[in-house]
Amino acid sequence: MIYSRIVGTGSYLPPRVMTNAEFAARLDTSDAWIRERTGIEQRHIAAEAQTSSDLALEASRAALAAAGMQAADVDLMIVATSTPDFIFPSTACLLQAKLGVAGCAAFDLQAVCSGFVYALATADNFIRAGTHKSALVVGAEVFSRILDWNDRGTCVLFGDGAGAVVLAAAAKPGLHASVLRADGSQAGILSVPGNVCGGKIVGSPFLQMQGSQVFKFAVKVLDEVARETAAAAGMRLEDIDWLIPHQANVRILEATAKRLGLPRDKLVVTVDHHGNTSAASVPLALDEYVRAGKIRRGHRVMMQGVGGGFTWGATLATM
Ligand code: ACO
Repeated sequence: MIYSRIVGTGSYLPPRVMTNAEFAARLDTSDAWIRERTGIEQRHIAAEAQTSSDLALEASRAALAAAGMQAADVDLMIVATSTPDFIFPSTACLLQAKLGVAGCAAFDLQAVCSGFVYALATADNFIRAGTHKSALVVGAEVFSRILDWNDRGTCVLFGDGAGAVVLAAAAKPGLHASVLRADGSQAGILSVPGNVCGGKIVGSPFLQMQGSQVFKFAVKVLDEVARETAAAAGMRLEDIDWLIPHQANVRILEATAKRLGLPRDKLVVTVDHHGNTSAASVPLALDEYVRAGKIRRGHRVMMQGVGGGFTWGATLATM
């Protein structure tokens, strides 16, 4: 049997930090409201000239260095993003060129905040099939570009960043099981319902959200998919060392851990200083905990995505 294993992680946050106080200075909101309802204290915002492929490049270099590999060693590049540099070519192709290589398969995957987990499961299947020996899997987002900065109900929630992992073929798992789900009937509760047509924006280019419906849906499906994934891996929930849910809101994370009966010290939380970075949130959180020496080789990590679509999913991996 061939399995895949995470052999390196990396991440990148643009240097500009935006605090809650900056919102409070120009909108009818407060640091206290944002902290209490979301747990978010600050987020990073990309510079005007920085694109998703720029953030992806830095995260990818760090992940490749951690894996002791060169870009030329990689057989497959997948970038999960909802904020691509262009309509086309894909951010993955731009990343490949910035890494100075050519030839390997490269494509984007769009599943909004579930994008990284979807991409990880996709790359795992390529490696298990035996057609590819390694993969660079990236989540990269500049959500600051699709926010209405006058809408206090959404603009305070998000940040920019990128995270990456290198997957390599291995004789033992690695990735034990993944479960991916979607329900398109819920498309309207979280969307950017616009497009470009005939040189004009049609619809809205800004993120729109029914916050309380998203909250309830997220907690329900994160609970269900964690149980399904553990069962598919033949493990018990108590066997998990770390739970990394999509970093949307501390209250969603804590409610999920509680429903699953997992103690707070197994819950990975970075949303307080990253904000919600959509597809980048899980690999950013993973890399931060790996670099801090908290997540170590042999640890069992449940990674979970949930977001627009609606989409959701989880992967259970031994590091
Ligand atoms: N500052 C002050 N007041 C605010 C703000 C703000 N930034 N945003 C909303 N409010 C107000 C609302 O206008 C409303 O006022 P009203 O009662 O006068 O109408 C009041 O606060 C309560 O609004 P609710 O939406 O009911 O507040 P809630 O407690 O649900 O918190 C929040 C809102 C934080 C958005 C919450 O619903 C949430 O976190 N939902 C999940 C959304 C999420 O995480 N989305 C990320 C993308 S989805 C994903 O990644 C899975």
